[in-house]
Parts: sequence; C-alpha cells; structure tokens
Amino acid sequence: MHRAALFCLLLIVCVNDAAPGDTEFIYNGFSGSNLHLDGAAYITQDGILSLTTCSSYITGYGFHPMPLRFASFDDYGMDSLSFSATFVFAITPDNSRSSGDGMAFVISSSPFVNSGKPAKYLGLNYQSNSRTAFLAIELDTVLDTEFLDIDNNHVGIDLNNLESIYSRSAGYQYNNYVGNKTTPTYEALRLSSGDPMQVWVDYNGISMVLNVTLAPIPNLMPPSEPLLSYTVNLSNYFEDSHTQAYYVGFSATTDDMHCTAHQILGWSFSLSGSAPALNYSRLPLKRAQHKMLIKWLLPAAISSLAVLTALTCFMLFRCCRKRIVERQQEDWETQLGPRRFSHKDLRAATKGFNTTQLLGQGGFGRVYGGVLAASGMHVAVKRISSESSAQGLAQFTAEILILGRLRHRNLVRLIGYCRHKDELLLVYEQMPNGSLDRYLQIKMKKTLSWSQRLHIIKGVASGLLYLHEDWEQVIIHRDIKASNVLLDAEMNGRLGDFGLARLHDHGVDAHTTHVAGTRGYLAPELTRFGKATKATDVFAFGAFILEVACGRRPVGLNARGELLVLSEWVRDVWDSSSGCIADAMDPRLEDYATQEAELVLKLGLLCSHSMPAARPGMRLVMQYLEGDMTLPAEITPDYLAITDVDDVFEMAPSVATSVTSLSGGR
Ligand SMILES: *[C@@H]1O[C@H](CO)[C@@H](O)[C@H](O)[C@H]1NC(C)=O
Ligand SMILES: *[C@@H]1O[C@H](CO)[C@@H](O)[C@H](O)[C@H]1NC(C)=O
Ligand SMILES: *[C@@H]1O[C@H](CO)[C@@H](O)[C@H](O)[C@H]1NC(C)=O
Ligand SMILES: *[C@@H]1O[C@H](CO)[C@@H](O)[C@H](O)[C@H]1NC(C)=O
Repeated sequence: MHRAALFCLLLIVCVNDAAPGDTEFIYNGFSGSNLHLDGAAYITQDGILSLTTCSSYITGYGFHPMPLRFASFDDYGMDSLSFSATFVFAITPDNSRSSGDGMAFVISSSPFVNSGKPAKYLGLNYQSNSRTAFLAIELDTVLDTEFLDIDNNHVGIDLNNLESIYSRSAGYQYNNYVGNKTTPTYEALRLSSGDPMQVWVDYNGISMVLNVTLAPIPNLMPPSEPLLSYTVNLSNYFEDSHTQAYYVGFSATTDDMHCTAHQILGWSFSLSGSAPALNYSRLPLKRAQHKMLIKWLLPAAISSLAVLTALTCFMLFRCCRKRIVERQQEDWETQLGPRRFSHKDLRAATKGFNTTQLLGQGGFGRVYGGVLAASGMHVAVKRISSESSAQGLAQFTAEILILGRLRHRNLVRLIGYCRHKDELLLVYEQMPNGSLDRYLQIKMKKTLSWSQRLHIIKGVASGLLYLHEDWEQVIIHRDIKASNVLLDAEMNGRLGDFGLARLHDHGVDAHTTHVAGTRGYLAPELTRFGKATKATDVFAFGAFILEVACGRRPVGLNARGELLVLSEWVRDVWDSSSGCIADAMDPRLEDYATQEAELVLKLGLLCSHSMPAARPGMRLVMQYLEGDMTLPAEITPDYLAITDVDDVFEMAPSVATSVTSLSGGR
C-alpha cells in the first residue's frame, strides 16, 4: 500500500518535472529510443518495434517510457481529456495465412507487466474486479465468440473490457475522383496481410467523439472518413484520472495455434492537437518474412521425429511438403504476389482500351490509365502484345509472379496481370506525376529544383540497390532511363518496368533496339557481348544521373548538330582549363550546392566508366550519395579514361570491383 502510494507519487513528480514538449512525441522508427519493453518485445536492428515474433503463446509490450498526464488534470478542473495518436503497423503471419491473435494500441493506468494475459486477451488485464483502467484500440485477427467478435479481421474500441463497445471490419473510406465527380469508395483491408498500414486515433473531450481511421501505406488517397466514430465520455472510464498518469503504448499476443509477427514501424502522439505527421521516408518499412516458414517448421519436424517411426515420418514429410508448396503457390497468387485480373475488368477499367485513356507508349506496348471498378484504385495497364511466341509469354508469366512480390518504396508496384490470348496485360499502381523525362526536356519551362532532383536520384539508387542486393534473388533491371522513372504524389522517384527486358529472352517482340535497353544507356560490353549484369545496370544508372543533373539526353545533338555523348562531354568540361565540373549542370538550375552537384556529376561519370571493373556497386553508390563515404581523390578525368584493368585496381582499389562480383545475373 505504502509502496504503491510512493510509486504513484514518484510518477506524478516525474511527470511534473517533464518538459511541456513531453505531451507530444514522435518515433520515426525506434532506433535509439528507450521505450519501456516487456515480454517478447524488442527493437530490431532496423529500428522496428517487434512486439511478437513467430512463436506461439507469447506476449509483447512496448510503452512510451513516461506515463502521461492527460489534459483532464488541468488546474481549472476542466474536463477536456483529448489526445491524438497515429502509428504504422504490420501483422505478418507465417505462410499458413491464418493469424493470431492480434494487437492493440493501449492507454492504461498500468503497463500490464506481469498481469496481462496472452492469446485472446491481447496482453490486456481482463478481470472484472481489476482496478486497471484501459482504453484499447484492438486490431484483432481471430474471431473469439467469448468476446462477441464480429469476424477475424476487425478494428474495435475496448474500454476496461475485451468485449468491444464498437467494432467494424477492417477497411478504409476515401474519395475517388473520376473526371470531375467524387465517388465515396470503401475498400476492405486485411490486417494480417503483412503490408504496413497506418492507424489514426483521435479523441476530443469536448465533442466526446473517438475516431479510429485505418489506411494502407503507401497511401495514394487520403482516407475521407474514420472507420470507427464513436461518442463516449472517456472521463467516466478513467476515474482515477485525478491522481494517476497513464501509460501509452502497444501490446500484442500470439496463441498456441498461430505464429505471427506484430510490428510497429513508427508512432506519434499528442495531448493537444493532431499527432505530428510521420515521415514515411524514415520509417523502417519491412521486408516480407519468408524465412518464418522454416523457423516454424523445424521444431514441428523435430517433435514429430521423436514420436513417429521413420516410415510415418517420411510419409508425413512428403505430405507436408506437398501442402506447403501448394500453400506457397496460393500465397503467390493471392496475397504476396500480383493478382490475376479478368480481361473484362481491365477492359472496363480502361473504357475498352480507349485512346483517350492512353498514358504513353513504351518499348513493350501501350500504357492505359484506368480505375478498377471494384476498389476505385487508379492503375496503369501495360498492354504487351506478342505476335511471335505464346510459349515465351507463358514462361514470362511465371516471372511476373516473382516481380509482383517485390515491395520497395522506390519501385512502381506491380499489382496484377492478365493473360488473354496472345496478349499480356500488366497492372501497375498509377503514378500521379507521370514520368521523369517529361520534366527534364529542354522545352519544359517549369522544371524540377535541384533538391527534388537529388531526392529522385537517391530514391532510384535505393530502388536499384534493393533489386541488386537486398532481395532474395538478384534482379537486373536492364532498362534504367529517365522515362522508366515515375514520380509519385510526393515526387519520390520510382523505378518502373523492372525485369521486363527479360521479355526479349522469351522471344516476345519489342520495339526497341535488338539488345534490351535503350541507346545511350547501354554499357559498351553489353552491346558487344549482350549479357546484362549488375555492372551494366550501374552504367545505365550513371547515364541516368548525368541526364538528371545536366538536363540533357545521354546521347543527343548539340547546338551545332554534332553528336554529343553526355558522359564524354561532362568529362571534357571537367578536364577543360577551368576544371569546374559544375559548369555542366543544367543551366535552368540556379540554387544548388556546388558540392552536391560535383558529387553527382563525378559519380555519374564513375558509374558510366567504360570498364565494368571501374564502376562501383550500388551499395557503394548509395554510401557516396548519402555522404557516408567520400569519393576517392583518385577519381580524376585521367582515371575515367583508363582502359587497363590493372590500372583500375591500382588507382582506386576501394571502388574497383572484381567484375564477377558485380556481374551476378540470374
Ligand atoms: C464536368 O462538369 C461539367 C459541368 O460542371 C459538365 O458539363 C461535364 O460533363 C463534367 N464532366 C465529366 C467528365 O463528368
Ligand atoms: C471524427 O470524425 C468526424 C467525421 O469525419 C469529424 O467530423 C470529427 O471532427 C472527428 N473528430 C475527431 C476528434 O477527430
Ligand atoms: C464526462 O464525465 C465526467 C466524469 O464523470 C464529467 O465530469 C463530465 O461532465 C462529463 N462530460 C460531459 C460533457 O458530459
Ligand atoms: C523526412 O526524412 C528525410 C530523411 O531523413 C528528410 O530528408 C526529409 O526532410 C524529412 N521530411 C520531412 C517532411 O520532415
């Protein structure tokens, strides 16, 4: 009793000591944060708050280190308990596709340590005589009849009790603009899709309205209405609010049948006004966790070994394996991989492939804009026709399944596909700001600022690094160029058309040069030997960043009508009497930091070195761009002109790559 009183007192003293700024906080990722963690929770290397991992029957908590005083404590006795919170989460089940049990955003008078219950109790203390007051926003992925759950995929408001006072199936509402009409659209979401999603929780003590809003990330259209909007006087539930500070944070549980990772990627909170906006580019957006299956399967296999004879075990294994392979394929087709659309739906979305819907004409065919009737999502449909090889198309469709599983904020997401007769239709998310090349053309008066261009360059580098090194298998892009870089609503650069150049290998006609790729971006060894490698991608990336910095095509005609190869021209500028490489910058750019300009131009030259061994790998490129490494002083016009491999290794050993390591293809 005394100790409890002292504890309370300490809390109040601490909270009183806290600076006024402490009524608001923001975590863009959790690296270096000192969250109060308990149970299975930990902060990953990437800065993700991992509440549970793939183990059964565990509980994890992560709370803000300081309990907070809500506004209802104010000296005038005014009751205006208000707050606003937002967070990004991901719930990733193992490949069995059923997930459990769920997680909750919690405001509570106790941090639940040693008292919360696992499994269906979501880590919350549920006893009718409990003195713990809590508000929980549950993201529940199991249907528990005991708590009158509506389904196995819902968002609910819980007050001191796990029977939600209000809940609805997960989904989001947004306004869809078509022509000049606004159509309110509702899209159902699967909480346990593994995809990151964002939640906003807002409560206003005057109107007594509690709103909970859910939306997918990246969020192409802002939600127009909350999923849950519920009127309740929270002060009635927080009776102790005159003496007690409240803990805010998260809890999550798994049960004995499911194995699910519950993760928080970012979180902000405010006691006055809206929670500060999260910076998406700083969130540790996670990668899919395919390894889970193995982790989960292994213990099961060992325990069955102990019980069963070798024969039954063998049979079991065969049966299991078959089932898992089937499951994986199912997963590819549904949640992880791209969807298969019906031709009818795509025809309807693009108004019968009407020319008014035409967004552009690429190397592989026409691209139409459209809106999917079912979800209201804006998409770009690429129509690839093949006169020659239906078989090649069939093989390529298998690769589409792989490409569709790639997720990165600097890649245009492939949503689905459709095969119809000898036609392949690829469905991408539509990028509202179109392709980058349009902004670089000389005749465009309104161009991009230097900081926008640098941001795009870094984004494309990051997307390419993901394809080359960070994914399960190496993907060579093969056609990096400004017209394949698309701009999303926030003007982030996103690589499109990755992997498509493989169509050539399958004998599908395309209307570009014989070697897949585009003139001016083709590495010399690629035109000679025809083999695409990471190093040929780096070459194209070099040509690309020179194009962005200089505002000129990689190969073009100068004012006198002479052929101008951009990389040679930039090198000549650098090698000229003035020695100032920044003279090559796009004359339309006025405000740029000379240091940044020099870095990008020199890096562009280095990447488009004629010798593959002299080009850096994308990881190194990223380090140069982020300023984590400085370009070696040996990178000079002379270095760029050398043609002997030994010289490459001698002059800049830190950059030189043994060609075999850069050239890893598939
Ligand atoms: C847009 O609105 C105008 C009048 O406000 C109307 O005449 C026109 O048909 C509308 N266009 C579309 C595509 O709905
Ligand atoms: C809750 O949502 C409603 C409807 O959109 C809105 O009018 C109200 O201001 C919101 N309240 C809070 C506290 O965000
Ligand atoms: C909400 O409840 C508190 C505590 O019971 C009470 O003092 C307050 O007047 C209520 N607010 C409104 C607007 O009814
Ligand atoms: C988001 O974070 C990035 C990277 O740290 C930073 O460059 C950018 O300015 C931030 N954006 C905002 C709106 O704060």
